Amino acid sequence: MTVGSQNDIDALKEIGKIVALTINEMKSKARAGMTTKELDDIGGLFLKKHGAVPAPKTTYNFPGNTCISINREAAHGIPGNRIIQPGDLVNIDVSAELGGYYADAGHSFPIAPYKPSLTRLCQYTHNTMMKVISSLKHGVRLNEVGRIIESEAKKGGYTVIKNLCSHGVGKSLHEAPTEILPFYNKHDKRVLKEGMVITIEPFLSTGAEYVVEQMDGWTLCVPDNSFVAQHEHTIIITKNKPIIVTAV
Ligand code: CO
Ligand code: CO
Repeated sequence: MTVGSQNDIDALKEIGKIVALTINEMKSKARAGMTTKELDDIGGLFLKKHGAVPAPKTTYNFPGNTCISINREAAHGIPGNRIIQPGDLVNIDVSAELGGYYADAGHSFPIAPYKPSLTRLCQYTHNTMMKVISSLKHGVRLNEVGRIIESEAKKGGYTVIKNLCSHGVGKSLHEAPTEILPFYNKHDKRVLKEGMVITIEPFLSTGAEYVVEQMDGWTLCVPDNSFVAQHEHTIIITKNKPIIVTAV
């Protein structure tokens, strides 16, 4: 969507804050020995308490309140009886709706005992997301997103998962502009405009360059044993720095 009023901005910030707090709540409760379903229930309850509705469920009939992906799973992991293990890499992706407004955010983090390589991957991916966000404003080409993700990944010794994109959001979970690629595409002539609401969500990997959909029809896994981290914020483009909607 493109915001047209202060009311739009306030409404996005309201659901954005709930999404961010949900991720914080889930992360703080995540422990080895717990199932992903138990963790998802914590998120589902938190959303409900704040009057928000889980978007993957209502939009796509996803079998969970949130997406929880572990290790080889990069995205759209279905909460279930999988038990979180010591040293796992966990990704929580929360998207939700309140009063017709949607926000989407994601966060990767390791479970103790911490492997330095996973801690670095998560931090580096977060820094990459923030670097992209701080480079965007009205008038900048949309393909800057992919150009920066690709060059930062290379600098850090990582690869980019090429078939997972950033996207427009706001009045629905996924909307125009679609397919904001995570690598440089010189043919993409689209330009960022003041008020545009988009996600920025790089997926950086220790090897794989794409993910593969599993038999369950949802889970996206790397085809090898590499690790993937994702961080995601929903932002509003302005004439200066973007407004980060999914900040606490
Ligand atoms: Co997301
Ligand atoms: Co998203």
